[in-house]
Amino acid sequence: MLTVGSLEIAHPFTQAALSGYTDLPMRRVARRHGAAYALGQMVLGTTVTHASDWQRRLLHVPADDHPVGAQLLGGEPHEFGPAARALADAGYDVIDINFGCPVHKVLRRRRGGWLLADPPAALDIVQRVLDAVGGDRPVTVKMRRGLDDSAESERRFFTILEGVFERGVAAVTVHGRTVKQRYAGRSDWEFLRRVKRHVGDRVVLGSGDLHRATDAVTMLRVTGVDGVSLARGAIGNPWIFRECLALWTGRALPPLPSPAELRETLLLHFREAVAFYGPRDGGMIMRRHAMKYSRLHPCPRKVREALIAMKEPDAFAAVLDAWFAPDGS
Ligand SMILES: Cc1cc2nc3c(=O)[nH]c(=O)nc-3n(C[C@H](O)[C@H](O)[C@H](O)COP(=O)(O)O)c2cc1C
Repeated sequence: MLTVGSLEIAHPFTQAALSGYTDLPMRRVARRHGAAYALGQMVLGTTVTHASDWQRRLLHVPADDHPVGAQLLGGEPHEFGPAARALADAGYDVIDINFGCPVHKVLRRRRGGWLLADPPAALDIVQRVLDAVGGDRPVTVKMRRGLDDSAESERRFFTILEGVFERGVAAVTVHGRTVKQRYAGRSDWEFLRRVKRHVGDRVVLGSGDLHRATDAVTMLRVTGVDGVSLARGAIGNPWIFRECLALWTGRALPPLPSPAELRETLLLHFREAVAFYGPRDGGMIMRRHAMKYSRLHPCPRKVREALIAMKEPDAFAAVLDAWFAPDGS
């Protein structure tokens, strides 16, 4: 059990926030395969408070999508409170704040990972979110281990870490890379171990280099974090959740998904995507996911070539039939 404020999450293996991926269809597939909790894609505060009909639809939380967290991104502290309140009213169980995004245009606008350089601004944002929703919803924070490898950056990390817990944040997810690293190099798990020792009973989730189920279970054991946030390892591989659970509960690693299971899950994901986005966008979005699912296919290169050759969105069903036949051939 992973406890995040008032929320009890069945086990420590959670679906990370992934821009461009963790929409409702992907969250549903992840849950079906055992994810205990899922975060949506990060969203700007102003997008929430000035949402178009389409954005409102993207942010809608149906009854089967719980527990679910919304992740807020922004640079202007005053935008966070109203946005957090609107997300709580929309039904999100947790409001998460992004202090980690390393994308250049995000940093340029003093958002995401840039806030690690400015503890007063980061803590102001956290306080505003807590004031808006802290009474009835857990608030959590996602951080990288700093802006860069300097001692000053580490000092600011710990200032923010201690400050957010003092103010009442329920959990912090730490990605063991710096903002400067982006996605290159290793995630520093020794740093995660130090963070967990530093905060004691307070809840920390770890992130970074969780490519396989064994990585996730090893991170829990080696660093002592309370939960893990599965990111790239879960794109196109929702089975990673059942594998994590098996290893964690002392059972043998389940076999890799058979071609028939691959087809069944791809079909489920495809139907969800088409129902959510319509046939045109749904087909093209599925292509992106299917490129990742292809890693589990016996002929990954051929499947990827077929996906790349897709000209029309409705060609996705044909690729599925050609490469993921119903009899598993
Ligand atoms: C395509 C992609 C999109 C991401 N989007 C987000 C996001 O919206 N919010 C967030 O906190 N982290 C985001 N991340 C970071 C991941 O949640 C995670 O911290 C990072 O990928 C490290 O884990 P990994 O090495 O196991 O992939 C993203 C990562 C990737 C690869």
